[in-house]
Amino acid sequence: MSYITIFDTTLRDGEQSPGCSMNVEEKLRMAQQLDRLGVDVIEAGFPIASDGDFLAVRRIAQLVRRPIIAALARCMREDIERAAKALENAARPRIHVFLATSDIHLTFKLKMSREQCLASAREGVRLARTFVEDVEFSPEDATRTDLEFLCEVVQAVVDEGATTINIPDTVGFTTPDEFAHIIRTIRERTRGIENIVISAHCHNDLGMAVANSLAAVAAGARQIECTINGIGERAGNAAIEEVVMAVRVRPDRYPYETGVVSEQLFSASQMLSEITHVPVQPNKAITGRNAFAHEAGIHQHGMLANPLTYEIMTPQSVGVPDSRLVLGKHSGRHALAVRCTALGYTFERRELDEIYRRFVLLADKIKHVEDHDLLPLIIEVHSQIAGDRAGTPAANRAGAGGSFAQA
Ligand code: KIV
Ligand code: ZN
Repeated sequence: MSYITIFDTTLRDGEQSPGCSMNVEEKLRMAQQLDRLGVDVIEAGFPIASDGDFLAVRRIAQLVRRPIIAALARCMREDIERAAKALENAARPRIHVFLATSDIHLTFKLKMSREQCLASAREGVRLARTFVEDVEFSPEDATRTDLEFLCEVVQAVVDEGATTINIPDTVGFTTPDEFAHIIRTIRERTRGIENIVISAHCHNDLGMAVANSLAAVAAGARQIECTINGIGERAGNAAIEEVVMAVRVRPDRYPYETGVVSEQLFSASQMLSEITHVPVQPNKAITGRNAFAHEAGIHQHGMLANPLTYEIMTPQSVGVPDSRLVLGKHSGRHALAVRCTALGYTFERRELDEIYRRFVLLADKIKHVEDHDLLPLIIEVHSQIAGDRAGTPAANRAGAGGSFAQA
């Protein structure tokens, strides 16, 4: 099976997401979790952007030794020198240089001609190679770049010694078939591409970042750039947990492997949310609160009979403690009975009917029935039944109609 390099950019592109900035210590904590998660590359920051970013890259490079540590730089001398300085103690340093190549960026942002762009890309990669052997180049806004010109730039930086060519869909504009075509064209037209890793860097503006990344892999890319919980500029980047689990759950469609320890995904997601105070949306694939929750009665019945009925992966495989059968008004008797048993009470059919009747009334009022809501109800019915069996009139029984405390 082909190996897909997982390049995590939570600490760089992810941090560019509004409200997600992190201080040096927080970045280090996150980097250590990314190391446990088994990502191959950690993009630790953009050292020229601020002293904090410089220090974070430096600290991570010193302390996190297994993965490659990458630092971002524009095709400018001061950026590249600053990135090299931040990485000087890294066990496996990578400088990631980028330059926009689309006409819209060249004309309105950089005010550069295509010739100047080509020359600047060459110089940037040449300079970066004087510091490190591992140099990644990104033609920013590649998916809106004239394909002929994109191929020209890619050939130029490969000739200068770039070792990874990353193709960014900077504004989340591309589609899976179009992106695959771009990757295939670059592979076909670039001399020496067999020694280069092609990478996909997709944004989620149209909700296709993961699909586009996987389409790129099918077309020959062997690195995916992604972030925890899919955070990143605007609508975010491809979410690492979705990429990794798509590959793991569908090897028939995606016959690739990654080095990610999937059981660490949930902890990484929770840690990021805790550090940034940005909650994970409940229905977020893989790491959302509801990703393994089942409320509808039919679903709960199926889950209890065999979890494969409604779960395509186990919660344990991504580090979620357990799947949650949420008891609400859509739940059925079966799920209720299982919950009662877990709480230490078993009932016959007629008794369960009574508990269920009361449960539905309660669920109508409070949406989700937690154990502490359910217990008084169970105890009440349980003691009534015990009294009936002993022949005591309900009105004389201690606990009948009483509270959890009395019981
Ligand atoms: O989206 C983008 O183009 C980027 C580059 C810097 C790789 O983040
Ligand atoms: Zn990006």
